[in-house]
Amino acid sequence: MIKVLEKKKLSENIYEMSFDAPMIAKNALPGQFLVIMPSEKSERVPLTIAKSDSNTGRVSVVVMAVGEATRELVNSDFFYHIAGPLGNPSELVDMSEEELKKEKIVFLAAGVGAAPVYPQAKFMKEHGVKTDTILAARNESLLLYEDELNGVSEVQIATDDGSRGFHGLITDCLEQLVKDGRKFTRIIAIGPMIMMKFASFKAKELGIPIIVSLNPIMLDGTGMCGCCRCLIDGKTKFACVDGPEFRGEEVDWDDALTRLKRW
Ligand code: FES
Repeated sequence: MIKVLEKKKLSENIYEMSFDAPMIAKNALPGQFLVIMPSEKSERVPLTIAKSDSNTGRVSVVVMAVGEATRELVNSDFFYHIAGPLGNPSELVDMSEEELKKEKIVFLAAGVGAAPVYPQAKFMKEHGVKTDTILAARNESLLLYEDELNGVSEVQIATDDGSRGFHGLITDCLEQLVKDGRKFTRIIAIGPMIMMKFASFKAKELGIPIIVSLNPIMLDGTGMCGCCRCLIDGKTKFACVDGPEFRGEEVDWDDALTRLKRW
């Protein structure tokens, strides 16, 4: 059993949960995820690692309580089991210092996607490379990780209802930045599947390569169950072992969204 050391409410139904997991903290790289079981008979919940500190051994994940398993998770004081770090790290991790310095990245961080964007933006800052982030939500009260992201990236806020920052969709905000003359070598979009779909269309229109982090239903997280199957460039891939990051223009979004609804 792993004791939950801190549970911070970030927004309605959204919590940051922290626990000690020294081996995970030592090995975690930006983009990787964990599969957590709150109790012996519960579902396995995949969650991207939001924070990990190899000095203290502390790890944090952000959970949106929307179903039975995630509600059980946020109400837990102990986790029964944690597997990870799983999945491939962000491709930024494999770049040389020279390559990183050439990157002008804009992160699209929508809703709980702000949490997994944070370690990637932090990684870039630690390598001395400035990045931009559009932090977006439906309204002001749902904006997450603003302080964290402000510490590592140039943040622009966007809300669908205009309650804060740019009034409109995250993709409109991106388009505005480009119209204002900003040049980007890469977009990294993390958030709801539907946002990543339209971000991929917008990226194509703007001629900017885009990476998305797919978040389909997962069970084992090790490529065995087939739950997280997705079509990438016409080929079957598993988000847990082949991803979770893929090129947005190669994702079959209709298939990905249909599978999500089916579950
Ligand atoms: Fe089972 Fe990916 S979660 S194959």
